[in-house]
Amino acid sequence: MSERPGTTSSPTALLRARGIRKSFGEHEVLRGVDLDVRRGQVIALIGPSGSGKTTLLRSLNGLETPSAGTLELDGGPAIDFARAPRKADRFALRDRSAMVFQHHNLFPHLTVLQNVVEGPVHVRRTPRAQAEARGLELLDRVGLATKRDAYPRELSGGQQQRVGIVRALALGPDLLLFDEPTSALDPELVGEVLGVMKELADEGWTMVVVTHELSFARAVADEVLFLDDGVVRERGRPRELFVNPREERTRAFLHRILHPLDDEPSA
Ligand SMILES: Nc1ncnc2c1ncn2[C@@H]1O[C@H](COP(=O)(O)OP(=O)(O)O)[C@@H](O)[C@H]1O
Ligand SMILES: [Mg+2]
Repeated sequence: MSERPGTTSSPTALLRARGIRKSFGEHEVLRGVDLDVRRGQVIALIGPSGSGKTTLLRSLNGLETPSAGTLELDGGPAIDFARAPRKADRFALRDRSAMVFQHHNLFPHLTVLQNVVEGPVHVRRTPRAQAEARGLELLDRVGLATKRDAYPRELSGGQQQRVGIVRALALGPDLLLFDEPTSALDPELVGEVLGVMKELADEGWTMVVVTHELSFARAVADEVLFLDDGVVRERGRPRELFVNPREERTRAFLHRILHPLDDEPSA
């Protein structure tokens, strides 16, 4: 269990989750999830609505406290959720990761740049001038520097979501978490957001992405996890899992995504 970094063939996991469980009342939503995320890796998380994808991401981000399981960050001491986790543990998780939500959650009364520097200034205590310089640099990278003084309502959905991504990057996280970042967008705006995400992946960002954009996952993800009813039903490289799923549930799910008008998949 106490595997030291460098002793295995794979590089150190940035994040190592074991046996993550989460119940809401009687309902056990996560039923023992294991997840390793190595530096620079992109993990795609797919699965039916209600399978626990958002709950898992929120658990990785410290927004949700699992009922049991352990989380290890960067080879540091494991946070054991079976014991009451300390506040410091949750803050550690929140400090190391940043989340991009399905809906951008930008503050409507703040400009683009103000939205971007909000976290660095108020959460990370970065001096405002420094946060603004960095924020502008990041906005420029996603082609939105000219929108610095615009309000969210003046932007398209795709632009808003790109600002959401910049806001996450501005926190300087080790791990980026995306929760269906394009599913609320008009179809013609999806590409510009996936394009930014692909660039981030190419730059070596470590990412866990909940998405049903299978061509994106196939192009970018190192590993795909199929979450089903609170467990990882199947995991593998996208090429294998998408083309040759081992599990019938995976096959049926992929079929529903690819052929939404069909009834049951033919065996
Ligand atoms: N805060 C909550 N309180 C009670 N039930 C919740 C809460 N959050 C999520 N759930 C339930 O947990 C299950 C999994 O939800 P979620 O993680 O959002 O799944 P997914 O993102 O895969 O659609 C759903 O049945 C949902 O209703
Ligand atoms: Mg969800």
